[in-house]
Formats: sequence, structure tokens, C-alpha cells
Amino acid sequence: MSSKPVLWITRKLSANTEERAAHDYQVILSPDDQPASAEQIVAMSPKVDAIIPCHSEIFSADVVSRLDKRVRIIANHSVGVDHCDLAALKDKGIIVTNTPDVLSDATAEIAMLLLLGAARRAVEGDRLVRERRWTSWSPSFMVGHQVTGKRLGIVGMGKVGQVLAKRARGFDMEIHYHNRTRLDSRLESGAVFHSDLESLLNISEFLSLHCPATPDTRGIMNEATFAMMPDQSILVNTARGAIIDEDALLAALKSGKLAAAGLDCFVMEPGGNPRFDSQEKIFMLPHIGSATFETRDAMGFRALDNIDAFFAGKEPVDRLI
Ligand code: DGY
Repeated sequence: MSSKPVLWITRKLSANTEERAAHDYQVILSPDDQPASAEQIVAMSPKVDAIIPCHSEIFSADVVSRLDKRVRIIANHSVGVDHCDLAALKDKGIIVTNTPDVLSDATAEIAMLLLLGAARRAVEGDRLVRERRWTSWSPSFMVGHQVTGKRLGIVGMGKVGQVLAKRARGFDMEIHYHNRTRLDSRLESGAVFHSDLESLLNISEFLSLHCPATPDTRGIMNEATFAMMPDQSILVNTARGAIIDEDALLAALKSGKLAAAGLDCFVMEPGGNPRFDSQEKIFMLPHIGSATFETRDAMGFRALDNIDAFFAGKEPVDRLI
């Protein structure tokens, strides 16, 4: 009988990840690729030593309290861990890791795509052509907002924010940021630090959100904070839906405070906000920031590296608790 630890992978991961996992562990895969419910997580827990979940599996305090003590490590296949009650997991003595760094390029690409697409009305234009409604042209037709040379405010200057800043410099954008701590000047690369959010919002013609969803950041973009932004500014969110008050966002778009928004994440996922459907000014994607072949392998390998380290008696490099 094999003495390899039992690893449950809750969703369908990249073929390379699943192959490596099967080589090193007694692996329980999930070819049906459905999010595991609270009851399924609890029911599986006495059978497994380690879990690789995604942000679709919710480890609430209630779920954690009912987990079997056999589970030793939860190695998330995500950088965000707002689906995990970290305090409850810590109390239970379960190690938790995430996958930072490896998805920064892919997510910054999607942020840039949303920024450009929202500013230049990409989705509206595509629909017009596709639906055979492109019947005329004039200089006043589908005029959008130029990106080149504009001020970009970044909320949360971690790895993704830093890569986005680098890409945006290619469009001669002037980079400003708000972060809990100021970066050293090498990492700043000329970006202007704002110690308070209001000061950043006041000057951001474009604003891109890159902070985690925590009790401190939930709803930070709301009626009051949208009001601080310049008229006709553009908002991009590739972080988490919960950091935006979606009613306030709709109101800001309707009033013209915001010219457009590009969103890859929503308060309700999957599905998004049905009230956004009729809004041409919102460019929407279905939470695909990290969805590239390269990044899916890298995320899977990083989660496995963390589990390998744990079972080898070493400290997982991405240990959060
Ligand atoms: C992340 O890694 O947090 C992405 O949103 C995908 O889960």
C-alpha cells in the first residue's frame, strides 16, 4: 500500500498540474469540475491530508469548524484567499498557502485589456459590427477616451499593480499609486505615492484596483469615493468584486462621473450583476485574469511546491498562516 499523502484537487486544473500531482500523491481529482459545496468539503475532509482548492470553494468558519483533523494543509490555487476564514483555519492548526507572483503578468494583461477596451468602447464596437448594425461612419462616431499620456491611479501596488504600471508606461501613462506602505524607489520607478486614497482618487483619470478583499477594503469604491474622482474617469477592477459597491458604480456611470468601467470580477460570481447587462459603458469579462495556459501551469506547480515542502518537513514558501 502506498504511503503517499492523499491530496484532493477540488477543480479541474491544468493537465501538467494533475499529472505531477498524480505522480507524487494519492490524488483525488475532480473531472466534473464543479465547485465543491460546504457539505462536500466537510464530507471529503476525513479522507484527505491536503487540499488544493480554488477561490470557488468557501472555507467559512462553519466549514472549518467541521473539517476533520486529518486535513493538514490547504494550498490554494489562487493568490486571493478571501474565500478562506484564515483566523478559523489558524485556530484549527491548518496551514494555508496561496500562489502569488506567478499570475501577475496574466492579470496585468487583462487589466490593460479592460483599460483599453473600456476607454475605446471595444465591446460596443464589436457588437455593432457583429450584429450588422454598422451602417454609417462619421468623425463623431464611437469617439472614446485616449489612454496615451493619461494619469493612471493604482490602488494596491503589489506584484500585479507593479506589472500593470510597467505595461502602462508603454502608453506614456503617468503612474500614481496608493498602498499601505511606500515602495522603495527602485520598485516605484518614478510612480507617485499617495499616502491617502482620496489624494490618489482626486487625480486618477484611470483607476485600477489591485488590493485584496478584506474587511478594510470591502466597498472602498462607493458613492463617496467615486465622487472624489475627476469627471469622466475610467475604472478597472481585476481584484475582487467585493471592493466595489455595484449600485454606486452604476449611479456613477449613469451620472457621467465615470465614463466607463472594465470589470473582470463581480460581487456575485459566477454570473455577475444582471443590472450591468444593458450598460454599454461596462466592458465585462468572466474572472479570467489568470486564465492563460502558462499561468495555469505555474499556479498549479506553485500550489504543489507548497504541499511538497510541507510534507518534506520544510516551510512552504507561500505560507500565510
Ligand atoms: C486569484 O488567484 O485570486 C484569481 O482571482 C483566481 O482565483
